[in-house]
Amino acid sequence: MARSRRSFVCRECGAESPAWAGRCTRCDTWASIEEVDSTEAAASSARFADVEVKRLDELVGTGAVPAPTGLDEADRVLGGGLTPGSVTLLGGEPGVGKSTLTLQLAASVAGGGASALLVAGEEAPSQIALRARRLGPVPETLAVIDDTSVESIVAALEAIRPLVAVVDSIQCARLDSIDGAPGTVAQLKAVTERLVGAAKRLDTSVVLVGHLTKDGALAGPRVIEHLVDTVLSFGGDRSGELRYLRAVKHRFGPTTEVGLFEMTPIGLSSVSDPSGRFLTDRQAGLPGSVVVATLEGRRPVLVEVQALTVDASPGNGRVTVQGVDGRRLALVAAVLGRRAGCSLIRNDVFVSATGGATVTEPGVDLAMAIALASSVGDFAVRSDVVACGEIGLGGELRSVPQLELRLQEAYRLGFRTALVPGSAPEGPTGMTVLRAGTVAEALAIVSRRPLAA
Ligand code: TYD
Ligand code: MG
Repeated sequence: MARSRRSFVCRECGAESPAWAGRCTRCDTWASIEEVDSTEAAASSARFADVEVKRLDELVGTGAVPAPTGLDEADRVLGGGLTPGSVTLLGGEPGVGKSTLTLQLAASVAGGGASALLVAGEEAPSQIALRARRLGPVPETLAVIDDTSVESIVAALEAIRPLVAVVDSIQCARLDSIDGAPGTVAQLKAVTERLVGAAKRLDTSVVLVGHLTKDGALAGPRVIEHLVDTVLSFGGDRSGELRYLRAVKHRFGPTTEVGLFEMTPIGLSSVSDPSGRFLTDRQAGLPGSVVVATLEGRRPVLVEVQALTVDASPGNGRVTVQGVDGRRLALVAAVLGRRAGCSLIRNDVFVSATGGATVTEPGVDLAMAIALASSVGDFAVRSDVVACGEIGLGGELRSVPQLELRLQEAYRLGFRTALVPGSAPEGPTGMTVLRAGTVAEALAIVSRRPLAA
């Protein structure tokens, strides 16, 4: 027996509410609430004898293992590759490179001899073919359809049985038996449910592309996050070349890894040596510059942090940041003034992470403090010095995760002196590890010879 239930869902954030409202109480978006008719089966009188109960220990090891896609940075984030039968949602702003990434992924899988299917909702197949040719060889086993009815998509999946299928985008797909234009909450949910069912039944990995929208015309991908196995977010500064791929939710592994890509004229290329990339064009002997050993996911990455301080009228100083966290910088600046005798109150302050990097973890605090002090004091820090540590409100230096790993990466790239918190472990052989208990001590070490140049 079916029972009709009406509910109201925000198309921006997916919040459900029992009644219609002009504004979503969770995300504060106006006019984003839509009515959905969710019809559920009434509770049946199932008997326990009919229920199949399995022992968990007997199921260990019977799950599907991820199949590598061949795109290294994507495989890194996915914990090895796409798991057969899984559904992955790839969200990101328009223009960030979702279509490029999924096209390369499908081409890579097809290039390995398996079949892959693209469902083209946004671009004409001929347009996609043109782009594919520009990006590399186009394998024979890469197929495309431009029919976005979910029945047709499932029929194509059944006929072709691809290893990987990409639906670009999920906001274009539709189920004809449901009211409403493609992209509404009801359509998105129904279409995703069908595709999840087909993926499981056919052991196909399905990747759904979802646009993050702010204009409210289409439902945001968040309303289907709970229906899929994996949610990836693809982001980065559209004007720059760097792109970050992160797992927001992943049923098959941790969500700690970050994939790094660079957008080039011939598509996205994996950045396998991020430190090398972030440190190109670095100039030695400049005041206001120091290198930090930071973490991107579980991977240590070296990034140059630069600061520039210029005179301003007292109390009118402005702070401009790029690639670092403005709130952490405010904390570091306040601690510098109060605990290390380095006041920035008469300065306009600019701090950036170079190379388009984004570094927001606490381990960057010490590097920001040194860069600022070095700019104010007009001394340069020797170019083979790497700094790493969190700064507390008392001016104390605190340890950061994976410091050993960070120092190894620094050593690999030629850094021979590390400035770190007092509790730091031994560094690699050949590296001088200088420990400081407070930010004032660290500045004293770094501002005199031999570290200051
Ligand atoms: P696209 O994958 O279409 O973004 P999305 O699907 O997320 O909207 O790519 C967007 C931009 O990427 C496009 O405006 C131009 C740039 N681009 C390159 O720089 N090089 C390339 O090889 C490709 C295919 C795109
Ligand atoms: Mg696109």
